[in-house]
Amino acid sequence: MKQPLHARTIRRLTSSDTDLLVELAPRTFREAYASQVRPEELDRHIRSDFTREHVAAQLSDPRTAGFVALEGDVPIGYALLHVGSPAACVEGPRPIELARIYLERRAVGKGHGAALLRACLEEADRLERETMWLGVWDANTVARAFYERWGFRCVGTHPYEFAGTIYDDLVMARAVAGPRP
Ligand SMILES: CC(C)(COP(=O)(O)OP(=O)(O)OC[C@H]1O[C@@H](n2cnc3c(N)ncnc32)[C@H](O)[C@@H]1OP(=O)(O)O)[C@@H](O)C(=O)NCCC(=O)NCCS
Repeated sequence: MKQPLHARTIRRLTSSDTDLLVELAPRTFREAYASQVRPEELDRHIRSDFTREHVAAQLSDPRTAGFVALEGDVPIGYALLHVGSPAACVEGPRPIELARIYLERRAVGKGHGAALLRACLEEADRLERETMWLGVWDANTVARAFYERWGFRCVGTHPYEFAGTIYDDLVMARAVAGPRP
């Protein structure tokens, strides 16, 4: 049967998903920033941050949880949560970081980001975390608007190293139990 246009599945990422994420994570990262960042800088960042070892370690880290969005059986995006040390400007209780949320470019604007974030908020709730926070490049207006629609508000900045340069990322946060559009 033909699937409706926006049919999707969200499922948990497991330690068996290394191959999936090793392919999806650098590809979606590249698509997100290709128009704003020099290709050699993107290559350098991807070579250092998306190695198989790094991805495998993330997927087996008990402080990390992740979800993949699929259209049919084709992965089109993912999100990662991480319980670790929050940025200094995050003051809310029991924080959890939305460490990554990335879709393929062709999948943006169809509600897949919303479905991934909903799964992340449910997981954060299940883990009894109370504050969700994230860092976002201030030039990433699409992502910032998405987070604002979901009730995230700017709480400060924190340093983010990209290809040898330190940037000030905006830090946004919301209550896990807050309203979900
Ligand atoms: C950030 C990101 C995950 C958000 O996802 P998104 O697809 O843009 O956001 P949504 O899932 O809310 O979808 C938004 C659009 O889909 C529509 N939509 C929402 N739910 C829908 C549904 N169930 N079915 C169909 N369409 C839907 C909305 O009406 C909205 O359209 P509009 O903007 O014209 O009003 C995505 O933009 C992305 O991956 N960007 C590139 C990577 C990136 O920058 N990541 C963040 C780094 S900090």
